[in-house]
Amino acid sequence: MADGEKIRILIVDDIADTRENLAKLIGFEPDMTVAGTAGGGQEAVTLAKKERPNVILMDINMPDMDGITATEIISNTVPESPIIMMSVQGEQDYLRRSMLAGAREFLVKPFSADELINAIRHVHELEKVRRARYAPLAPAAGTQVAGAAAAPAVETGKIISFFSPKGGVGRTTIATNLAVALHQSTEKPVVLVDGSLPFGDIAVILNMSPKAKTIADLIGSFEQTDADVVESILVQHSTGIKVLLAPPTPESTELITGAHIKHVLEILRQRYAYVIVDTWPSYGEQVITMLDAADVVLSLMTLEITSLKNIRVFMEVVEKLGYSQDKVQLVANRNDSSGGIKASDVEASLGRKIPHTIVSDGRTLVLAVNRGVPFVISHKDSQVSKDIFSLAAKLAGAPVASEAGAAAGKQAARPGGLKLFGAR
Ligand SMILES: Nc1ncnc2c1ncn2[C@@H]1O[C@H](COP(=O)(O)OP(=O)(O)OP(=O)(O)O)[C@@H](O)[C@H]1O
Ligand SMILES: [Mg+2]
Repeated sequence: MADGEKIRILIVDDIADTRENLAKLIGFEPDMTVAGTAGGGQEAVTLAKKERPNVILMDINMPDMDGITATEIISNTVPESPIIMMSVQGEQDYLRRSMLAGAREFLVKPFSADELINAIRHVHELEKVRRARYAPLAPAAGTQVAGAAAAPAVETGKIISFFSPKGGVGRTTIATNLAVALHQSTEKPVVLVDGSLPFGDIAVILNMSPKAKTIADLIGSFEQTDADVVESILVQHSTGIKVLLAPPTPESTELITGAHIKHVLEILRQRYAYVIVDTWPSYGEQVITMLDAADVVLSLMTLEITSLKNIRVFMEVVEKLGYSQDKVQLVANRNDSSGGIKASDVEASLGRKIPHTIVSDGRTLVLAVNRGVPFVISHKDSQVSKDIFSLAAKLAGAPVASEAGAAAGKQAARPGGLKLFGAR
C-alpha cells in the first residue's frame, strides 16, 4: 500500500513510553502509519494543523495544555481530523468534557491492541462516510440562493420543517401539536405535511382513515399538479388543520423526488399561512429539499450525548448548505428528562443557543394518545402544552408573556450535575 493511502495517525501523550508503544502497535498494521507524535497539547495543535492527520490519539492529562483543551481547538480548526480520547478509568467527568469538546471516540486505558486498531479504523471510516455524504451537498446551497432570489415578492406562508438526525426524539409528536397550536392561536390556515415519507405515522397519531388520500396519489402526475389537485388530496382533521399524509407503503417513497416535494410545498405555501413538515433522519435528496424549502428548520434534540454527537454533525451539514443562524433553531425536547446533559453544556459545545425547550411529560402524552386527541387540545393547561404554545407564538412572531421567567423556572427544576455515563 502506498504511503499516501494509509491512515495517518498523530499520537499525543506526555509519556514517551506510551507514545512508543502506540507507534509500535500502529506500525504492525499495513494500512496505518504514524504522521507524528506530540508530548503535549500545544505541540498537538501545531502538528495537527501542519499534518492534518486522518486520526488523532489524544491523552487527557498532560502538563502544558491538557487533551481536552487541545481537542476543543483542533475540532474547531482541523475538523477533518477526528480525535480519539485516551483516558484511565475513573475519569468519567473528563470523558464527558472531552466528548463535549468534540472527541469522536474513547479508549479507556489499559486497552488492547485490537481495541486501539478497531477504534482507529472505525473513526476513520465514519469520517470518510461523512465527507463523501456531505461533499455533494455544497452546490445545493448555490442553487438554493439562486432560487430564493428568483422567488416572487408576494406574501406566502411560512414553511417550518422539523429535523433531527436521530430517530425517536419526538419530531412527529411536536410537529403535530405545533401545527394544531399554531392554528388555534393564530386562527390562520395550517397544513401539516407528513414528510416522513417511508415511515409516516401522522395518520395513526391523528386517527385518520386508512383509506385517506396521501401524497402517493400524486405519483405519476406531479408535473401537472396544481393547487386544486393538491387541495383534493389533503385530509381535514377535526382540530381544523389540514394534513398531507405520507404514502401508505414505503416503496412509493422512491417515486417521489426532491423536485416533486419542492413543487408541492411551494403550492401549499400559497394557501396556508403555516406549512409544518415532519421529516425522517436522512441526509438524502428528499429530506434536504424539505429543509431547503423551509423558512425555519426546527432541529429537535434530546439532551443526551448521542443526540449531541449527531446534532454536531448536522450543524456541519447546515453550514455547508449555507443556512443562516436564524433559519436553523434548536429545540430541546424532554428537557427535564433524567440521564441527560445540561442545556448550557450543549450550548457551549455547539456554540449555539437552544432557543426553545419542551418539558418531558410522558403521562400527559399517553393520556392524550389514548383519547386520540393532540395534547395541546386535551391538556391545554399542562406545561408541555404551554411550551408548545410558546414555541408557536415565537414562530408566529407574537410576544410571549413571562417566557423568560418560565424558562428559568424549568431550568431550576431540572436535577443538575447529571453524569453522562453514570446512567449507562
Ligand atoms: N416532551 C415529551 N415528553 C414525554 N414523551 C415524549 C415527549 N416528546 C415525545 N415523547 C414520546 O417519545 C416517543 C417518540 O416520539 P415521536 O414518535 O414523536 O418521535 P419521532 O422523532 O417522530 O420518532 P421517529 O424517528 O420514529 O419518527 C413517543 O412515545 C412520544 O410520546
Ligand atoms: Mg416520527
